[in-house]
Amino acid sequence: MKHYTSIHDIDDINSWIEDAKALKKDPLKHLELGRNKTLGLLFFNSSLRTRLSTQKAALNLGMNPIVMNVSGDAWGIEFGDGTVMNGNTAEHIKEAAAVISQYCDVIAVRAFPTLTDKAKDESEEVLNAFKKYASVPLVNMESATGHPLQALTDAITISEYKKKDRPKVVLSWAPHIKALPHAVANSFTQAMQKMDVDFVITNPKGYNLSPDIVGDTPVIHNQEEALKDADFVYVKNWSSYEDYGKVVNTDPNWMITKEKIGDAKFMHCLPVRRNVIVEDAVLDSDSSIVIQQANNRTYAAQLVLKKILENA
Ligand code: CP
Repeated sequence: MKHYTSIHDIDDINSWIEDAKALKKDPLKHLELGRNKTLGLLFFNSSLRTRLSTQKAALNLGMNPIVMNVSGDAWGIEFGDGTVMNGNTAEHIKEAAAVISQYCDVIAVRAFPTLTDKAKDESEEVLNAFKKYASVPLVNMESATGHPLQALTDAITISEYKKKDRPKVVLSWAPHIKALPHAVANSFTQAMQKMDVDFVITNPKGYNLSPDIVGDTPVIHNQEEALKDADFVYVKNWSSYEDYGKVVNTDPNWMITKEKIGDAKFMHCLPVRRNVIVEDAVLDSDSSIVIQQANNRTYAAQLVLKKILENA
């Protein structure tokens, strides 16, 4: 594997899950693999888990991670071809990516969507520009439309906590005050479609994810009906895809409560707004596995980096 930019870069999700579990048991086993190799982490947006767990993963493989907050600290990068650069951008991606490739053996990028320009977001302008102009492997740390490191983490976590061969997994939309990206929900959906699970999505009308993502997965607009007999409830807000990037519903009745969750395990990628997305009683109970889920971010990232280093 050269790049990890999408969940579709996983050839066999079950074997990846088992490999990640093995890394978790003995995280420093491959400390020599990344010796004298540098991972450059480029953040166009905020992060806690991705930033720290990906560095930790690199350190566990003996790599040297270097981090840059691109939006705040670097020159403004131009992505347009043939642009007359007499505006706010001072450096073209062609030079920036080529230069960074000389400093780093692997580049990891986080770049969120505009949520105002669907075509631009779906073109994955930033991620694909790095893919095109960098000469080293690329890792997606959450792009406009996908968060494959998170989705691999989620698959590992479900595998660890499942009590039956084919658990029921529900992806539920929950309310939020801001317009949020679709990336986590998209990649989670794609990961579940690769796993042997009974997977359904529940969201209000007007909040269906892209039909290209949903495919044949059932979408149920009645949350109570969807949650029935769930083993895992994966909760996430996303803005409307149909009315692109808009908040068209903030109905608090979609918040996840202890009563709704029943015996299921509660999952969320974090950060989560308490008592907006989910009530305290869920997060503060044994139903919640969000902390254990976040721990698995390290082993998902470590597996991806290991596969890239082994292929180099
Ligand atoms: N889940 C996740 O990606 O967390 P951060 O935004 O804090 O990195």
